[in-house]
Formats: sequence, C-alpha cells, structure tokens
Amino acid sequence: MPIAEVRRVRSTRAGVARGAGVLSRLSLMNQRITPLGLIRWAAALVGTAIESSGAPFAHPSRSRQFRIRRFVAELSVTIAAIATTTNLLSASSPSAKPSLQSPAQSVDFQLSARCPPSFELMEGNACQFRSLYQLYNSPPGFGGLRAALPSLPDGFSPQQMDLGRYLFFDPLLSADHHLSCAHCHRPSLGFADGRARSVVSKGVGGRTGPRRDVLLPRSAPSLWNVGFLRNFYWDGRAHSLAEQAKGPLCGSDEMNNSPRQLERDLNGQPTYRRMFTEAFQLQPSEEVTYTMVLQALSAFEATLISLNSRYDRYAHGDDDALTEAEKRGLNIFRGIELGCSQCHTPPLFTNDELEVTGVPNARGLPFDAGAGSLAASRALRGAFKTPTLRNIERTAPYMHAGQFSSLTQVVRFYNDRPGHAAPVGEHLHIDWHMALRRPVLSELDINDVVAFLLTLTDESMLPTIPLRVPSGLPVIGGARENGAVSDTL
Ligand code: HEC
Ligand code: HEC
Repeated sequence: MPIAEVRRVRSTRAGVARGAGVLSRLSLMNQRITPLGLIRWAAALVGTAIESSGAPFAHPSRSRQFRIRRFVAELSVTIAAIATTTNLLSASSPSAKPSLQSPAQSVDFQLSARCPPSFELMEGNACQFRSLYQLYNSPPGFGGLRAALPSLPDGFSPQQMDLGRYLFFDPLLSADHHLSCAHCHRPSLGFADGRARSVVSKGVGGRTGPRRDVLLPRSAPSLWNVGFLRNFYWDGRAHSLAEQAKGPLCGSDEMNNSPRQLERDLNGQPTYRRMFTEAFQLQPSEEVTYTMVLQALSAFEATLISLNSRYDRYAHGDDDALTEAEKRGLNIFRGIELGCSQCHTPPLFTNDELEVTGVPNARGLPFDAGAGSLAASRALRGAFKTPTLRNIERTAPYMHAGQFSSLTQVVRFYNDRPGHAAPVGEHLHIDWHMALRRPVLSELDINDVVAFLLTLTDESMLPTIPLRVPSGLPVIGGARENGAVSDTL
C-alpha cells in the first residue's frame, strides 16, 4: 500500500547562526542569567542546529552522517529533558504553589509568585511561554514534525494564573454554587468529562429544592492547549478564551450566573478580594469585576500545555521515542490518502478550523448542523471545529456528542466511504481529503494509527488541584495532591 513519504523538514536559514540569534534575543530579554536559563539556551541552540541539518525521521540510513546527527539529536533531547525536569522540580517545590504547603498555610491562599513550568518570568511580572517548537519555522499546515507553534496569549502574571486556578475549581462561580468549570472539565479526564454529552444537575425551586439532571446537546472538549486556539466551541462561535468563558458562566443551561451576582459574590469574600487586589494591583476602593474573572480564567487555561509527549520527543530528534508500529501509524496519519494531519495539524493536532466530516447523528438527537446553524453558508452545514488529539487517550467517548466510544471506531469511520455515516437526506459538503480512495487501511494499519494516537499523551504540566477554594465550597472534579489521585463527583 503506497503511503506518502514523510516530508523532511528543512530550515531555510542557517541553523547555528539562527540559534545564536535566538540566544542573543533570549539573553536580551533575560534580566538574570541562571543555571536553568543557561541549560534552556543550550537546548535551544542545539535544537536549532539539528533543525537546520535536516535530521532524517522516516527510514534513515545508518550512515556516518546519520550517526552524527543522531548523537546531536539525543544530546538535544537530554538537555531539553534536564531543562524541563529542573523546571518541573523547581515549580513544584513546596514554596511554588500554596496548596502544596502545610494545611494551615494553604488556608491563607497565598498566590504563587512563580510562573508554571515552561513559562519564564519576564520583566513586568509577565510569564512567557518557552518551547522548542518556537524555534521551528516550517510552513504550517503540512504536518511537518518541526511545525511552528501559534502564539500563546501570554503576558499574564503568575498571580493571575494562580487566581484563575482557584476560580476554575470554585463552585462559587455558578448561580446555585453547585457547579465549577472543573465539573465538566476534569483534570483526570483530559479536562473533558468522560461523557458523550455533558450533564448539569439543576436545582428546581431554589438552591435547596430537588435537583434534576439536564443533558447538554454536546460533549465537553478537552482544554489541553486551548490557549493556542482562536476558535472555541465545537462550532467555533467564540474567538477568545475570555469571550468563551462568558458562555458557561452565564448560560442558563450551565452555571446560570450573571455578571452582577458573580461580582457581588466575589466582592463579598474577603479572601477573594485580597487575591484579586494582589493579582490585578487594585486600589483599596476598587472592586472585583467580571472582566477580571474572565481574564484570570483565561490566564489559568493558557497554562494547560501538553507538548512533552513521546511524539514530541520524536519530533525534537529522539528517533527511539516511538516504536516501529507507532512510526508506521504516524506515517499513515501524515500520508495524503487519509489526510489526518491536514486537519489535525501538528504540533497542536488541530488546524483550529471548521470541517465537514459527516459523523453520524448522536442517538436520540436531531441532526446537529454545527457551524451550519450559525452561518448562511450551505457549505458549513455539519461543520465542526477540528478538535485537538493531544491526550486523546483520556477523553473518550469521541466526537461532538460522543458518537464513538473508542479510537479504533474513529479510525474505522475515517477509513470508510465519505459520507457513509451522515444522516440520510443530508447532502453535506464533505472535505475533499476524506473523498480520496477508501478503504485504505488494513486492520493492522488501523491498530498502528491507534498506537500512534496513544503517543500523544502528556500530562506533565497538570496543574495542582486546590484542596480548598476560598469560598469554602467543596472542590468538584478531583483532588490530586502530592501524587495521590482521588476524584469525587
Ligand atoms: C455543564 C458542563 C460545563 C461546565 C460547567 C463548563 N463547561 Fe466548558 N464546555 C462544556 C461543553 C459541553 C462545551 C462544548 C459546547 C459547544 O461546543 O457547544 C464546552 C466548551 C468549552 C471550551 C471550548 C473548548 C474548545 O476547544 O473549543 C472552553 C475553553 C471551556 N468550555 C471552558 C470552560 C470554563 C472556563 C468553564 C467555567 C467558567 C467551563 N468551561 C464550564 C461543558 C461545560
Ligand atoms: C477534514 C478534516 C479532518 C480529517 C481529514 C480528519 N479529521 Fe479527525 N476530526 C475532524 C473534525 C472536524 C472532528 C470533530 C467532528 C465532530 O465531532 O463532528 C474530528 C474528530 C476526530 C477525533 C475525535 C476527537 C475528540 O476529541 O472527540 C479523532 C480521534 C480524530 N478526529 C482522528 C482523526 C484521524 C485518525 C484522522 C485520519 C484517519 C482524521 N481524524 C482525519 C476533522 C478531520
């Protein structure tokens, strides 16, 4: 079976010179030179050098030149690993996050003054994201291993990011104080909720009245790497994290709150007032506003970064990070016939665009036209935003309403005739990548693609879930403290 050759990504600029340029830019931006900073710079320099040497990834010959490149690649990965580990260790040391302190101190809710792992504290108390992917400049959209990363809305302070963490887990944000963001975006489930469609338990007749479960029409997407996106929701109807957060906060089917009640609740809590005053440098006369809440939530969401999987190690040059089966799966994924990477484009594994794939209807629901119900364009009928495949292992069931329960089912769907599962009578404009020859894959190939998808798991930057939140309300969504995981819902 012909599978498109893996493209070799070559930098157009002279690598070492470019690395040196990056170095001097980094050092200019850095006020202090720390050992950790030096390790990072070295990793950046070596990473750039191999990038420009065009390291082979598909089926490399064992030439001397290859062995040299391979040595440089391994060196780079080792240095990058040391940098990440040092960063992780320093950021999770007892002084880093209040919830890791002794219970007496954690009740004080001190906001962290340090940036999360992979962020660097810059002048002006702003955390700036650092990744090897920022050194690559391959054209986006071709599925190259060393693909450029879109920018992250950074510039948030450590205190704003940490405040957002408390807000995300605090049911105080919902009108009846029962629901937090984490209720549907659970850290242990890839920040999704493990359900085909999200469920809200609503009080009938006031806060203490009987409750009933309401099923939402769609599933909760993962929030990993959500900071890099420009289009939010399955139908792409919001265009910033702050705009998106208004939906769940004030939507009558979700947290059902209003900006005024939210501000009243937060201003009524001395602990939150103190935390907002610190995070937003408020004057004593200034009050907490709805906009600050949206900003802090966005700051926290931008910290949910997953770019350290085995796939990433392979992309950065560690040829042994993937097994042969996983590499075969990657090549199929990147091949022209199935075109997975045309939509699930590395390194985020989403092109952040609306696409018509013709997924089956969710059982018991009328046809969901996705973006088609917002736009007049007939071409967008049945279009949904391409979801990321990062941490896909954690977020079953799959698709906008959990139509498939396993990754094998998903790959079988793509391997079949285009439109085969679309609702009868709907003539959808299915994307042309899906209209190429079908079926393409043998059962063995399907297993290889699934094996590859499982290499995209990385939760090394999982934030610490607060044991308590300032409102004193129960923390929904789980408690994972010092390695112990115990989800309660
Ligand atoms: C009742 C469950 C529920 C709660 C509570 C909830 N969400 Fe969601 N979230 C969802 C569902 C369902 C969607 C997808 C809805 C759609 O596309 O129509 C979603 C979508 C999102 C998205 C878009 C992700 C993407 O890739 O497009 C973000 C970001 C998000 N939620 C953040 C939050 C934040 C922040 C909060 C708290 C303020 C929150 N959610 C509370 C269920 C929930
Ligand atoms: C034309 C663009 C396109 C192509 C090509 C494509 N996908 Fe998708 N993919 C999407 C969209 C859009 C969705 C969401 C569809 C929905 O929920 O209705 C999706 C959903 C998925 C999901 C479920 C994600 C989740 O969080 O629920 C997986 C897994 C997936 N695709 C894997 C693949 C694989 C593997 C291939 C190649 C065989 C592939 N995709 C090809 C656009 C595409």
